[in-house]
Amino acid sequence: MSTPPRWTDRQLALLAALGVRDWWPLPPTAPEAEPQPKPEPQSEAVAAPAEAVRPPPPPAPALPQAEPAPLALTLDAEGLNAAIRACRACGLCEGRRQAVPGVGALPAPWMVVGEAPGEQEDAQGEPFVGPAGQLLDAMLAAMGLDRRATEPAKQVYIANAVKCRPPRNRAPEADELAACRPYLWRQIELVNPRLVLVFGKVAAQTLLGTDEALGKLRGRVHRLPDGRPAVVTYHPAYLLRQPQDKLKAWEDLCLALDTAEALP
Ligand code: URA
Repeated sequence: MSTPPRWTDRQLALLAALGVRDWWPLPPTAPEAEPQPKPEPQSEAVAAPAEAVRPPPPPAPALPQAEPAPLALTLDAEGLNAAIRACRACGLCEGRRQAVPGVGALPAPWMVVGEAPGEQEDAQGEPFVGPAGQLLDAMLAAMGLDRRATEPAKQVYIANAVKCRPPRNRAPEADELAACRPYLWRQIELVNPRLVLVFGKVAAQTLLGTDEALGKLRGRVHRLPDGRPAVVTYHPAYLLRQPQDKLKAWEDLCLALDTAEALP
């Protein structure tokens, strides 16, 4: 009979934040659904799933070679936010209440990239303030991160792949992602994070230039075109609908923490 794994305090904090219950031995893994982060669920509750826990992921594989960074903008933070707020580069500007540039410290050791503002973000002008944002904040807190932290080590900048809310929270289209990409690359430059956490397929698509399924992208360390490490995981809105995948998200966050710790 095998014995339960021994979790570190950090791993236990992440498990608790994700609502994952410790369990041993392992059950069969549930079949993987294709993640679709939008629309956000109505419920504010972050349900606690009763799924089991697997041991931490294996060490990160060797990183692939970086491509040259696709940069265009040289604006400072203030100029960039002003440009985003005034942007009319795609049709999303027609339906927005306001553009949502990002929140957090600049620079910051961590950066989160999500998909697009939803209704509450469009109203408040800040990313991830709805139900998915509550789960995101809990995940970040378990990692020791806080969007409003003043202590440099805890700082994280949060942005989206597109800065304006798509109608009825539909997924952003390719031309909308392309129009917003220079803003995102400039944000990454200004934040200068040690590692980027990529939440959901749309953010992965725009940052990594791939159409691969999220299940194939998670669980390993990628390189952004500027050489920065990035870890892809499930979007919090998807996790609210599919809590059985919180365990895999927890593994991805552990991978991100381990990768950041190992950086020079
Ligand atoms: N989902 C996102 O991807 N971003 C937000 O800001 C809110 C919900």
